[in-house]
Amino acid sequence: MLIEIRDLETQFKTRNGIVRAVDRVSVDFDVGEFVSFVGESGCGKTTLAFSVIRLIPFPGRITAGQILFDGRDLTRISENEMRTIRGKEIGMVFQDPMTSLDPLEKIGDLMIETILTHKKLSKDEAKEIAGDMLEKVGLPRNRLEYYPHQLSGGQRQRVMIAMAIMLNPKLLIADEPTTALDVIIQEKIMNLLDELRNEGKAVMFITHDFALAAERSDRIAVMYAGWLMEYGDSMKLVNEPLHPYSKALIQSVPDLWVDREIKPIPGSPPDLSNPPEGCRFRPRCSFAKEVCRREPPEVNVDGRTVKCWLYGVKG
Ligand SMILES: Nc1ncnc2c1ncn2[C@@H]1O[C@H](COP(=O)(O)OP(=O)(O)OP(=O)(O)O)[C@@H](O)[C@H]1O
Ligand SMILES: [Mg+2]
Repeated sequence: MLIEIRDLETQFKTRNGIVRAVDRVSVDFDVGEFVSFVGESGCGKTTLAFSVIRLIPFPGRITAGQILFDGRDLTRISENEMRTIRGKEIGMVFQDPMTSLDPLEKIGDLMIETILTHKKLSKDEAKEIAGDMLEKVGLPRNRLEYYPHQLSGGQRQRVMIAMAIMLNPKLLIADEPTTALDVIIQEKIMNLLDELRNEGKAVMFITHDFALAAERSDRIAVMYAGWLMEYGDSMKLVNEPLHPYSKALIQSVPDLWVDREIKPIPGSPPDLSNPPEGCRFRPRCSFAKEVCRREPPEVNVDGRTVKCWLYGVKG
């Protein structure tokens, strides 16, 4: 396995109490796999991604668990070592691309600078790589001379992807890389991510768009309120979801259920500083029973992991 996340816990210590944004999540995947993390807003997807590259914003921190990446535990290595992994071995495309581009710096200068901090090359060689990368994401080389504001949202997002893959990382984390883009550009970006998986990288794709995840991924991880509710083979999960939350999520997606009634999930996710006791999905779950007042176990069903009492007790 390229990455093994074990019982990971990331919390934000806020004035209103401790927010358990990622709560004992275990998940693993390998190179050549496209894994989508889905779930409603606020369920901990971005926090999980930030935990992997150890860029959790204040006041958050990893409080327990391990992230084994290529044999090293990323929760334990020094910041110096982490800095060499970030960018070089793990590339990340952030949810909001504007925040990571300096408006006063040309795209090319930023890319060249980044390449030179990691590789011993001449400036011309770095420029050559930067140009190649822009072409790979479908942008002309002359965009190296542009400032971020001269590009459209879709072009900026593609620059971010070029930056994330230019050092040839083993793992690419893409957090909602296509939100706010039109469908044609979205399709292009998804094709690019597909291609990266086929080249042998691992792709960790984060989205609230279940249809998009279903279309592309090898595996799907369904998150809810900081918990990993279900994880496993994408086809199986879409065709026969086990967790009531996965079922509800799928039924709320128009594209997957063209000939069926779309059913929005009633209610909304809990406040993570004060989650319901027992199963966090219980107040919205149509299968909830008495036992759900206790935390459900994580069980393995047919190669899938499910955190639900429906599968927890036999007989
Ligand atoms: N800097 C922060 N301070 C305090 N709480 C935070 C902070 N960042 C995130 N959280 C909390 O952590 C939880 C998970 O947030 P996160 O951004 O990981 O969710 P998400 O699944 O990525 O949502 P979205 O789909 O909206 O991007 C939320 O309850 C959020 O309020
Ligand atoms: Mg997010």
